[in-house]
Amino acid sequence: MNEPAPQRIDFLCHEIERHNYQYYVLDDPLISDAEYDSMFRELQSLERQYPSLVAPDSPTLRIGAPPLQAFAKIRHRTPMLSLNNAFSEAEVLAFDDRIRELLNIPVVEYAVEPKFDGLAVTLVYRDGLFVQGATRGDGETGEDVTQNLRTVRNIPLRLNQEQTTCPIPLIEIRGEVMMFKEDFFELNRRQTERGEKTFANPRNAAAGSLRQLDPQATSRRHLSFYAYGTGVVEGYILPDTHSGQMESLKELSIPVPLQRRVVHGTEGLLAFFREIGELRKDLPYEIDGVVYKVNNIAQQARLGYVARAPRFAIAHKFPAEEALTTVLDIEVQVGRTGALTPVARLVPVFVGGVTVTNATLHNEEEMRRKDIRIGDTVSVRRAGDVIPEVVRVLIERRPLDTMEFQMPKVCPVCGSHVTKEADEAVWRCSGGLFCPAQRKRALLHFASQRALNVDGLGEKLVDQLVDRNLVHTPADLYQLDLQTLTRLERMAEKSAQNLLDAIEHSKQTSLARFIYALGIRNVGEATAKELARYFVTLNKLLAADKASLQLVPDIGPVVAQSIAAFFFEPHNIKVINQLRAAGVQWPEEVNHGVPVDSLNGKIFVLTGTLVSMSREEAKSKIEALGARVSGSVSKKTSYVVAGAEAGSKLGKAVELDVTVLNEAEFLALLTRK
Ligand code: IVH
Repeated sequence: MNEPAPQRIDFLCHEIERHNYQYYVLDDPLISDAEYDSMFRELQSLERQYPSLVAPDSPTLRIGAPPLQAFAKIRHRTPMLSLNNAFSEAEVLAFDDRIRELLNIPVVEYAVEPKFDGLAVTLVYRDGLFVQGATRGDGETGEDVTQNLRTVRNIPLRLNQEQTTCPIPLIEIRGEVMMFKEDFFELNRRQTERGEKTFANPRNAAAGSLRQLDPQATSRRHLSFYAYGTGVVEGYILPDTHSGQMESLKELSIPVPLQRRVVHGTEGLLAFFREIGELRKDLPYEIDGVVYKVNNIAQQARLGYVARAPRFAIAHKFPAEEALTTVLDIEVQVGRTGALTPVARLVPVFVGGVTVTNATLHNEEEMRRKDIRIGDTVSVRRAGDVIPEVVRVLIERRPLDTMEFQMPKVCPVCGSHVTKEADEAVWRCSGGLFCPAQRKRALLHFASQRALNVDGLGEKLVDQLVDRNLVHTPADLYQLDLQTLTRLERMAEKSAQNLLDAIEHSKQTSLARFIYALGIRNVGEATAKELARYFVTLNKLLAADKASLQLVPDIGPVVAQSIAAFFFEPHNIKVINQLRAAGVQWPEEVNHGVPVDSLNGKIFVLTGTLVSMSREEAKSKIEALGARVSGSVSKKTSYVVAGAEAGSKLGKAVELDVTVLNEAEFLALLTRK
């Protein structure tokens, strides 16, 4: 070879990546595998000879990285959200109605695309170079899987920027990593051959493969990526529609789904749903529905977000799969809040991609309505991550000797009497934290990943800790020592120490996680976050009454009542104090936003129409924060809130140099986002 090494290396890098793109993105190889391999080996050998010439986007980096000890955590620049679901045409019509009403337009333009059944990741490109990739994690923080994502052959290591005048300083691309059905079957075949565990479905296989600490292991797993949007973009203006943005990504050589369209109104949405439904079985990857997104980005911004999901998009899911099996037994489980749930033990059956052995019967009323008995042949349904359930009984197959199942009159775990409130369908154990089942569930919830995240505190361990009276409340976890733990079954000194380390580690947390961990009825993760954001300190939350709790976005009277009732109980306050005394803490979020009472005495003027609330609601929220609303703008006005089609008051505000807030800024001020 006469060509100097630097030029040859550069040429090979480009050629190999070009052929990667042809093969993995366009599905249109231009050369044979042998020719490709020979170029790859030549590049490897040149790079070995001249290590200083290895380019940051060399295709050899797709296989070479050394194994990691653990994944680093990455905080997403903007949160990775989820989608609300629609399971019926009626829900799709309601979605479209809502959008038309909020935007006040007769027909909405939507961008529509498949809903990939993989796992969400985000890819960061700086100056065109792939520099970082992370999993979704809890939406705020994910895991750094950059090296593993480099092994995904259809992810470009460098963006194709022929169309752009200069490299894009920063662009974050969001999408889904998947394993093609073919690769999944092949992987399971190999796993069986080697006597290793097989995967339940392509999504689990993709997730397991992406979370390998050894990138070489990921590299052998054949994953694929498809983009469905962007995150933060700096120094570059993307088109003002979702469909336009997807076109731009495609030009940058990012893989985007082939089946994407722009449609108008619900007819277009439903036609796409049917079309993709028919195509589903022939697609190389698994999809579990389609996604509808308002196409215009400015309209998306006006619609905004509720909790963790955008208002401008919805996932229309395919109906769940069903299969027939037999009920072997019915057991009654006691949940965290004492609810008694009848659960059917089933003859194992493969449905919706996994083997199902249990199905929830929800509560006594549901069980009676469907008349489910031991010995019955039933149809079970499973969709996505939801708990499998029994849809119906095949009465014609019922054996002669069945009996109606009777709910127990006392708690099957602690023997306390069971109660049912007038407006509720569930029986509850009245034992509270006296009931070991409730205590166990509460502890598992407290220790779960999204709460205080005590790694390694699983069901078996919690069973032992509670059954041996070593732990009564979450606060007791922080009093455990090595000696006590090593006396437990299957607890060598090393695992005991690991658990103590995990408990110690869990002390550094956030207020939102702490609130969620308490397991207050009706307070899920999203509500906990809103509470933390709103009240900023725990003491302010503890001091809040039902009325001020309802000022928090998405909190109504029922949730406010649960929260107030929880903090009213002295034993709950005692546990909170013990946890704080044991060292559970979070950064004081003093600089996080405007202090709670900082709107005291401020004067607001409202003009135009707000999308997210009526004028009355806005007024009462402002007043609840100690400020007041005036009808006209003067020099004394603190803020003018300008909604859509704001009138002359906006002009006056500009004239008098009064701060003008748009709707998003106003909401941020109210909720301190
Ligand atoms: S858009 C702002 N589009 O579904 C919301 N998500 O259930 C961003 N997903 O976490 C999501 N296909 O991982 C969007 N075409 C698609 C998708 C898609 C699959 C996943 C995504 C998200 C989850 C929400």
